[in-house]
Order: sequence, then C-alpha cells, then structure tokens
Amino acid sequence: MKIVVIGGTGLIGSKLVKELRIHGQEVVAASPASGVNSVTGEGLAEALKGASVVIDVTNSPSWEDAAVLKFFETSTRNLLDYEKAAGVRHHIALSVVGTERLLESGFFRAKLAQENLIKASSIPYSIVRATQFFEFVKSIGDLSTEGNKVRLPPVLFQPMAADDVASAIGAIAMSSPVNGTVEIGGPEQFRLDELVRRDLAARKDSRDVISDPHALYYGIQVSEKSLVPDNDARLGETRFDDWLRQTTKQVQKKDLQPA
Ligand SMILES: NC(=O)c1ccc[n+]([C@@H]2O[C@H](COP(=O)([O-])OP(=O)(O)OC[C@H]3O[C@@H](n4cnc5c(N)ncnc54)[C@H](OP(=O)(O)O)[C@@H]3O)[C@@H](O)[C@H]2O)c1
Repeated sequence: MKIVVIGGTGLIGSKLVKELRIHGQEVVAASPASGVNSVTGEGLAEALKGASVVIDVTNSPSWEDAAVLKFFETSTRNLLDYEKAAGVRHHIALSVVGTERLLESGFFRAKLAQENLIKASSIPYSIVRATQFFEFVKSIGDLSTEGNKVRLPPVLFQPMAADDVASAIGAIAMSSPVNGTVEIGGPEQFRLDELVRRDLAARKDSRDVISDPHALYYGIQVSEKSLVPDNDARLGETRFDDWLRQTTKQVQKKDLQPA
C-alpha cells in the first residue's frame, strides 16, 4: 500500500515515516524540501500517483491569524482535490484535542477550518486529535515567560510523546477510515503549571513558575478541562518522567561533546 506523508520531514512526520516503513509500507515523505508543496500544489500530482492513503501532518510556517488560516484552508483544499483525482481512499489529518474549546486563538480557528473541509469532502477520512506533545512543554514555558517568571494556569493537562503520536497515526493509517474523529492522549494527567515546573527543574532552568488561574495559555483563556480528552481517548504508553530523563540525558551528552 502506498502511503504519502505530507509534512514527512517534521517532528511527527519523520517519526511516522519510520514507523510505517518498519511495518513494510511503501512510504513517500513529502514536503517542500522534496519538491512537494501542499499550498502551491507543486509536485502533488506526481507524489500522489498510485497512493491509497494520504496523511497530513503539515504545520504552518506562520501562526499569525490570517496566515495560519490561509495555510490550512489552501493546503487542505489542494490535498483533497489532488487526492480525488488520484483515487486516494483514506485521508488522515492530525489536529488538536479541544480545538472547538480554543477558538479564541487564530491557530485553532484554522485547525477547525481544516477539519470542516475534510468532513465536507467525499474522501473517506480519519481526523486524529492529539493532546500537546511532551516536546512542546518547553515552548509553553518559554511563551509564558516574563523576566525570570513563568505564569501559567493550573488547568488539567495530558500531554503525550511524539513517538506515541506517530505510532497511533501509523495504526490508523493501516486500518479502515473511521469517517470521524479519534482522540489520543498521554497516560497521565497533570496540572499545566506543575508539569512546566518539573520540565524546567530537570533542565536546570532557574525560572520560577507562578500558578495563576487568570494566566493565559498560548495567549488565550483556558478552563479546567479545555486541554484534556474525553474518557474514550486512546492513550500512549510513554510516561513524562521517563521521557524527560531520557531527553535531558541526551542534552547533557551533547553538551559534553567537544565542539
Ligand atoms: N505541538 C503540539 O503539541 C501539537 C499537538 C497536537 C497536534 N499538533 C498538530 O501536529 C501537526 C504537526 O506538527 P509538527 O510539530 O510535527 O510540525 P513540524 O515539526 O513543524 O513540521 C511541519 C511539517 O510541515 C511541512 N510543511 C510546511 N509547509 C508545507 C507546505 N506548504 N507543503 C507541504 N509541507 C509543508 C514541513 O516541511 P519542511 O520541513 O520542508 O518545511 C514539515 O515537514 C500540526 O498540524 C499541529 O497542529 C500539534
């Protein structure tokens, strides 16, 4: 079965390509770097020739409101049009748990527009909504930093390892389309402020995390359950502390190597 991963060079895309190849699938890793651009349409017809499944794990280079909306709308419309012409039988896209609760943000309005285009198309589909990746926890802290203080709301948070995101999408790609949405998340729930505090401490980062119910998450208000999935979500296996230990060990090893 030929599977095309659009955004196949990204964080999730590169792991997904590896995972599918381990399972013996014929995989094309498509991105602008390999001459395939879902916004301009460049290289899409050629990449999709003979494909049964297309997985969209792209992300917009800009998260500015208008730019991100234009990216996901144009890219998704192009992919669905080219897939129809190529006879693709399963379109899979990676979205975010809680998207409809986060619409104060232009990024999530763009993700919802992407989901709606997929639902309205005639191509069988699976939308995979993931919680935040462990790899993203550090950027959440960085974005909420002022001086030496990181201000975050103590809301529930259930992040997952990028490896587990890739495994879950890989399994869905090798199954029939669900024609609906599947939620995936991490095996444990935390408080957002507590987890960022733990992440910074393990990285020996001296910033102070302040718990503030009115602090914003990525520029928007969130409530207790905005970021967590429903009870029927498929859960990854990797625990945050195990991942953090492994990640900080790798960083320390790199720091010790001669330049
Ligand atoms: N961050 C989170 O915690 C989180 C949680 C849930 C869901 N998600 C979703 O996961 C998806 C993937 O995230 P990621 O972190 O893996 O992204 P990423 O590492 O930023 O990778 C983005 C990929 O998109 C490709 N791309 C950009 N413009 C393109 C275009 N015009 N045509 C084709 N490919 C293009 C990039 O290719 P080049 O390398 O060639 O530029 C790259 O391969 C996003 O849609 C995001 O909404 C994220």
